[in-house]
Amino acid sequence: MIEEEIDKLLAEEFPVRKNLIYLNHAAVAPLPLRSGEAVKAFVDEYVHFGTKNYQHWSQHADQLHADLAQFINASADEIALLKNTSEGISIVAMGFPWQPGDTVLSSDEEFPSNRIPWQALADRGVQFKEVTLRQAGKSPEQALIDEMDDSTRLLAISAVQYASGLRLDLEILGKACRERDIGFCVDAIQMLGVAPVDVEKANIDFMMADSHKWLLGPEGIALFYCRKKWLRMIKLFQYGWHMVENYGDFHDKDWQPAASARRFESGTPNILGIQAFAASLSLINDIGIETIEDRVLHHTNLMHEYIAKSNNLEAIYSDSASKMSGIVTFRHNNCDLSALFLHLRKQNIMCAERGGGIRFSPHIYNTDEEIISALETANQFM
Ligand SMILES: Cc1ncc(COP(=O)(O)O)c(C=O)c1O
Repeated sequence: MIEEEIDKLLAEEFPVRKNLIYLNHAAVAPLPLRSGEAVKAFVDEYVHFGTKNYQHWSQHADQLHADLAQFINASADEIALLKNTSEGISIVAMGFPWQPGDTVLSSDEEFPSNRIPWQALADRGVQFKEVTLRQAGKSPEQALIDEMDDSTRLLAISAVQYASGLRLDLEILGKACRERDIGFCVDAIQMLGVAPVDVEKANIDFMMADSHKWLLGPEGIALFYCRKKWLRMIKLFQYGWHMVENYGDFHDKDWQPAASARRFESGTPNILGIQAFAASLSLINDIGIETIEDRVLHHTNLMHEYIAKSNNLEAIYSDSASKMSGIVTFRHNNCDLSALFLHLRKQNIMCAERGGGIRFSPHIYNTDEEIISALETANQFM
């Protein structure tokens, strides 16, 4: 797609721009028009024909498994659709073949979803170790690798940190894990949809992401990837009719868990969520993830440039270009953070208060003008 076509498409797909300057994709994205339309069309059928076309519903789910697999270079039987990121992390945390004395390595910047399930393993003798990512003279990847030892069984890390936007090199980490026979579990919610992720290249064993941030999908439906070799090694703790191999056979008392990652989908799928998620993913694919990444990084640079020149604003985290994502967090040196946040809200600027500052997280459809105008509003606030 050429630039003009992309701009035209984005102008159509994001009517939210008529109402708000929406810089909050690291929290919850607005739905693109096509995703809203897909849900409306589905609901219309649901209201007027109930489940008459039920066989199509499972085809929609199958198609989304296949599309997500292609998106991350996995195979469809390694994909499950879950409720959210936390559920995916909990499946790994609760089901991993731990031994007392094992360690899970992670960072000191994680969102609670990628901390609490691991901390909950303490009574099984599994230690959760938080590595300081920012250490003088060391890359964050090296800081993590230096802490790997004989007790380390899993590295559980966010691809992009939610407050700072620090982006980790998954290929470096995946290689280090593979060389040491350490499992690699990636919370990708702040990266998927804004940068390409290839589970093969990065040697990822487990990956999860709810759709409601950079993937532009709805809340409450998440991608879960489990590398084939792990499928049977993760002990199941959720059961139901849908996770068995012959799930159409309600009389099979001698059931087996599905051979595929469907074994993690215990019951009825979130069919409304599937409609919206599939449509949002189609938009990302239509534009192309590399194009999205280029434009989002352009926005990030723009924000850093503006903040560097401003007398009032100060970036809290200034990472090198290769470590940047779609998130920029800044403070105002002359006013209260919460007051500034409320002021921005009143001016219809959607952002978040995170990591001791104001977090801006624009997506591809935001314009330079919107971003500069939002920064000016912040800069001028006293
Ligand atoms: C890094 C990270 N992981 C997970 C989540 C959310 O998890 P869940 O999908 O379980 O709500 C967030 C939300 O802000 C996040 O930033």
